[in-house]
Amino acid sequence: MSIIIKTADEINKMRVAGKLAAEVLEMIEPHVVAGVTTNELNDLCHDYIVNVQQTIPAPLNYRGFPKSICTSVNDTICHGIPNDKPLKNGNIINIDITIIKDGYHGDTSKMFCIGAVTPFAKRLIQVTYEALFLGIEQVKPGTTLGDIGYAIQTHAHKHHYSIVQEFCGHGVGKEFHEEPHVMHYGKAGAGAALEAGMIFTIEPMLNQGKRHVKMLKDGWTAKTKDRSLSAQWEHTILVTDTGYEILTLRAEEL
Ligand code: MF3
Ligand code: CO
Ligand code: CO
Repeated sequence: MSIIIKTADEINKMRVAGKLAAEVLEMIEPHVVAGVTTNELNDLCHDYIVNVQQTIPAPLNYRGFPKSICTSVNDTICHGIPNDKPLKNGNIINIDITIIKDGYHGDTSKMFCIGAVTPFAKRLIQVTYEALFLGIEQVKPGTTLGDIGYAIQTHAHKHHYSIVQEFCGHGVGKEFHEEPHVMHYGKAGAGAALEAGMIFTIEPMLNQGKRHVKMLKDGWTAKTKDRSLSAQWEHTILVTDTGYEILTLRAEEL
């Protein structure tokens, strides 16, 4: 197996899928407030994806995942399962959306703050966003996967945050998770060289405390072992002839 180079037709389909995934995050934003449950957010996203977009929520039944979106609150690193607990003032939450349109996946996530969050939480969220973009800015033909990881790692460590190693970015297309693994740490110049037509996610998870993960018995929810806060942002990225195109960019990021 090797990294798939997408055709022009596949790239167009991935552009559509990426935009639709981004639009789900835009739709849900006004609903992400104190008092709402993550199950309610799941249902709003599910109905929008299925009925308005007429696309497919990729997480639902993926390897047994029971819901249509992932909702990861505070010390949950990723793959949180929506539940009936209301969000509270001061919570931070990652919402991760993956949709399938015309057989192709768009995968993206962002952090939301509920009411007033601490300056520490805001800083973690901001530095994680910066780390994602420093990784993205590495992307062009000839640079390597290691260059992406190194850029992210350098920024995270400069701010004394740790990087989760158990989960990584991934090729994406017809499959939810394809080659390559896109590590969020690494050595400059190491690993596979990027080529135009590759499409993968970058989705760094940074922890306030130590990097270590504790898996819950549900088999999905990954938390920080030391219960420190964790933040994550994700985009789906196309390698172009001259650099990159962010397929899941939101209007607020233009
Ligand atoms: N969207 C996640 C990712 O970025 C994967 C979620 S798998 C699920 O790779 F089953 F939890 F949905
Ligand atoms: Co992903
Ligand atoms: Co995702």
